[in-house]
Amino acid sequence: MAEVFKVASGTKEDKYALLYKQIAEVVKYESDNIALMANVASMIHHTFNFWWTGFYRVIGDELVLAPFQGPMACSRIAYGKGVCGTAWHRGESIVVEDVEQFPGHIACSSLSRSEIVVPIYNKDNDIIAVLDIDSEHLATFDDIDRLYLEQIATLLGSVL
Ligand code: SME
Repeated sequence: MAEVFKVASGTKEDKYALLYKQIAEVVKYESDNIALMANVASMIHHTFNFWWTGFYRVIGDELVLAPFQGPMACSRIAYGKGVCGTAWHRGESIVVEDVEQFPGHIACSSLSRSEIVVPIYNKDNDIIAVLDIDSEHLATFDDIDRLYLEQIATLLGSVL
């Protein structure tokens, strides 16, 4: 990594803009997928102080827990199950304002109240992982989060 990790002050957009630049640096200097996912989870997590930030990788017909920040979580999620498996099945991001209103939501932590899941596509247009972020507050995530997190997912998908 070229320099020490910094968290921007200012708006959510300001924070995402600096976060993206720093993730682009990490991507440039690290080629190991696990090391990359570990640092990216940490960088997102500590920029916003989310409750849980991490990755699940597609392995066979399941999502398997990958590097994350936050409390321990369920390690395997089936295709089409929970928010993560549904985002994988639909092939698109899902923003959940209130996890109790999402049928089939998998509660890894009773403190999680809202969630966003973004699929990560590789160069062949296959989903190889999902980025999952949980908040202990309701309606934390909106279209701004979706936009920037999808940009981060695209960047990661180009190298994973
Ligand atoms: N809530 C997710 C499960 C993963 S944890 O939030 C870390 C889901 O419903 O898929």
